[in-house]
Amino acid sequence: MDDLFLVNEINRLKIERDACILAHNYQLPEVQDIADIVGDSLALSKAAAETTNKVIVFCGVKFMAESAKILSPDKTVLIPSKYAGCPLADSITKEQLEIEKKKYPEAEVICYVNSSAEVKAVSDVSCTSSNAVKVVQNSKSNKILFVPDENLAGYVAEQVSDKEIIPWAGHCITHARITVDDVIKAQEEHPEAEMLVHPEVSEEIRENADFVGSTSAIINYAKNSDGKEFIIGTEIGVLHKMKKDSPEKQFYLLSPRLVCENMKMTRLVDVYNSLMNMQYEVFVPENVRIKALGSLEKMISIE
Ligand code: 13P
Repeated sequence: MDDLFLVNEINRLKIERDACILAHNYQLPEVQDIADIVGDSLALSKAAAETTNKVIVFCGVKFMAESAKILSPDKTVLIPSKYAGCPLADSITKEQLEIEKKKYPEAEVICYVNSSAEVKAVSDVSCTSSNAVKVVQNSKSNKILFVPDENLAGYVAEQVSDKEIIPWAGHCITHARITVDDVIKAQEEHPEAEMLVHPEVSEEIRENADFVGSTSAIINYAKNSDGKEFIIGTEIGVLHKMKKDSPEKQFYLLSPRLVCENMKMTRLVDVYNSLMNMQYEVFVPENVRIKALGSLEKMISIE
């Protein structure tokens, strides 16, 4: 099956199934191109909550499709690749969080959306990389248990100095591949370039950056900047939109290892099979969903 056939079939099936295709900024270029909405985690959560289509095909990883189901329980939510997970989300279980909560009973629990539905269900509020600072600032508590990303927790702690942030020791394995040597090399090779990074990078990488933001914030920064060259410290998928937005600008990936294997599992043929066979449907037990919904809705209301 060639790409043209798959694209035509996907467009036909999309109408037949009354489906909306959501794709994360890290998806393969050809998958981004057939999506109705491409965005960061926050934009996709909102789109999932607002869509009027009967079916949501979520081209991303499991926790994202789960969030869509939590927010839109009456829709059929499909994930084209059933093995697309997130090691960061898997780095904390509900049981581990419950033990942690007992150590800090006075703390508010804020969980990054890169977490399971069960973890969201025992958290007070969720956040994404684009609203983490706002969500923490909005907290009435001076003590925050922030799970599971220690790098995002560190970034937030720098921005919000009047709260104690207790991080969980999880991290994104893709962003963790960036080394200080990568930064030195990239900045030596491209001295005029601005360096844009995701808050999931470690502190030693972040402190060399000109801008820190979510995937969409990085894409928008490059589009609106007068700069002509950019070193990009996040997953390779963002380059697709950046090059489309600004073909005259130069983009250099900070490390050739910035490829998320899970995000790259979804190919065009998987999107086609997903619509054709209505696979793989995402389910969240109702008792978990109701509690996790509270955490996601609170986040969305802070916007
Ligand atoms: P964004 O919300 O910035 O798109 O991040 C999602 C993610 O999983 C980054 O690794």
